[in-house]
Amino acid sequence: MNAFAGWSGGAAGIIMLAAVLYWIGRRTFGAYRKLSSPEDYLLLALLLGIVIMGDHMRFVGTLHADTYRAWFQSLMAFKPAFPAELASSTTRLALDWHMLFVDAFLIYFPFSKLTHAVGAFATNLVRSSD
Ligand code: HEM
Repeated sequence: MNAFAGWSGGAAGIIMLAAVLYWIGRRTFGAYRKLSSPEDYLLLALLLGIVIMGDHMRFVGTLHADTYRAWFQSLMAFKPAFPAELASSTTRLALDWHMLFVDAFLIYFPFSKLTHAVGAFATNLVRSSD
């Protein structure tokens, strides 16, 4: 399980980093530059922060997934607590920033253009059935 999480999580972390950097480059230098608004960059900056801090935990941090699981379960039980191993590790700072960016992203999501993703699938089905 640990090896599977290492390979799949590591691959996802690298692919997501490459994708976000590509999207930023496309908006900054490519044909989409003229269509880009500050909101587009805000969303990409939040995603970049999430991915960099996630990758930091994955590739630089030395904590075992069980430690994160214990912390997340404490949140789910409404009794938030850092396991001692996590509290004494500097990797905790990466987790703090990861969660800050994730929370900001999720809070902003309903007010952003990303809400289109929710209806886009059904809309495209209707449109292509003509
Ligand atoms: C409740 C929400 C989330 C929690 C509790 C959480 C927690 C974590 C933890 C503990 C890790 C480190 C895993 C390890 O090294 O063993 C991690 C990694 C990562 N997270 Fe998150 N995360 C959350 C949401 C997100 C979201 C929304 C994204 C992307 C939009 C994301 C992207 C990543 C990436 C790319 C990695 C690095 C690759 C990996 O280890 O899988 N996370 N996250």
